[in-house]
Amino acid sequence: MKNKSIYILGIESSCDDTSASVICNGKILSNVVATQEIHAKYGGVVPELASRAHQQNIVPVIQQAIQQANIDKKDLNAIAFTRGPGLMGSLLVGTSFAKSLSLALDIPLIAVNHMQGHVLAHFIEDESMQKPPFPFLCLTISGGHTQIVKITNYFTMEVLGETLDDAVGEAYDKSAKILGLPYPGGPLVDKYAKLGNAKAFKFTKPKVDGLNFSFSGLKTGILYFIQKKVKENPNFIEENLNDICASIQYTIVKILFDKLKKAVEETEINHIAIAGGVSANSEIRKVLKSYEASLGWTTYIPKFEFTTDNAGMIAIVGYLKYLENNFSNTSTTATARLKVNDN
Ligand code: KG4
Ligand code: ZN
Repeated sequence: MKNKSIYILGIESSCDDTSASVICNGKILSNVVATQEIHAKYGGVVPELASRAHQQNIVPVIQQAIQQANIDKKDLNAIAFTRGPGLMGSLLVGTSFAKSLSLALDIPLIAVNHMQGHVLAHFIEDESMQKPPFPFLCLTISGGHTQIVKITNYFTMEVLGETLDDAVGEAYDKSAKILGLPYPGGPLVDKYAKLGNAKAFKFTKPKVDGLNFSFSGLKTGILYFIQKKVKENPNFIEENLNDICASIQYTIVKILFDKLKKAVEETEINHIAIAGGVSANSEIRKVLKSYEASLGWTTYIPKFEFTTDNAGMIAIVGYLKYLENNFSNTSTTATARLKVNDN
């Protein structure tokens, strides 16, 4: 017989955050994230250092998640883990640990697609969040992905458009690096942008067909612009940091919303969610909210802690799969490349 309370442990280790979460019937009991500071001085994630740090962090992070949830590991009903997409070495740490723990506790194993995790974080039971009805569109924006996804039900997702080169998070991080800001630069560009004039500098927006995106040209444009200005005035960045960040942010947000508006027109779906690390961005949240009144959209904005990589989003997918008896076996392998509709 099924337990009344279903406890799932989620494990996330796809990139540079080691995270573990316990949820009970879709409600978060704990969501512990160990962020790896080591990458800041390299200006980006160093895969080999990431997997080593995951190995150091995984046991204490899981122990802490179980402790904070105030349960015993014997209470767990299943282990959900990120099988991909992500860095192979990092994924292997979480995958191997999840397999061993499921064997040791003799409970089911559930493989989770990280991209589905970002989207389905909207289904975490939380008073401050409203669940989107099907079908809805989700703008998934992170350090690795930029996609407009149509979600017909929990595990039926279709990519309507995606980036042809850099992800939007990369555009933020690379722009920040050009400005001499540490990794990850997205939150810093966002912070300085709030204090600046978005119309101070103009950057060219790419011309891309359909609902796809491109961000690599923008990054190059920013690089040439800064190099030219710094040649004229070595203090250009310090003297104009807020305005530069505001102008970069304005351009990125405009690129994203031009395509999102097009997707809404084409699909006639106006329930719109955002997901992924970049959805923590203040301007993106503000503009999206403003479209409720001006365009009649209903919008779904996740809580900050469920936007950047976290195991709560893996645990909720685990729970939804558990309800469908959708389990994996120990021959499941970590997969660096996985599409959003790969279950
Ligand atoms: O989802 P996430 O934690 O990891 C990936 O799966 O990639 O996203 C991380 C990305 C980084 O590029 C980071 O700079 C960006 O999210 N980010 C932001 C903000 N907070 C995080 N970008 C812009 N504004 C923010 N407030
Ligand atoms: Zn992610």
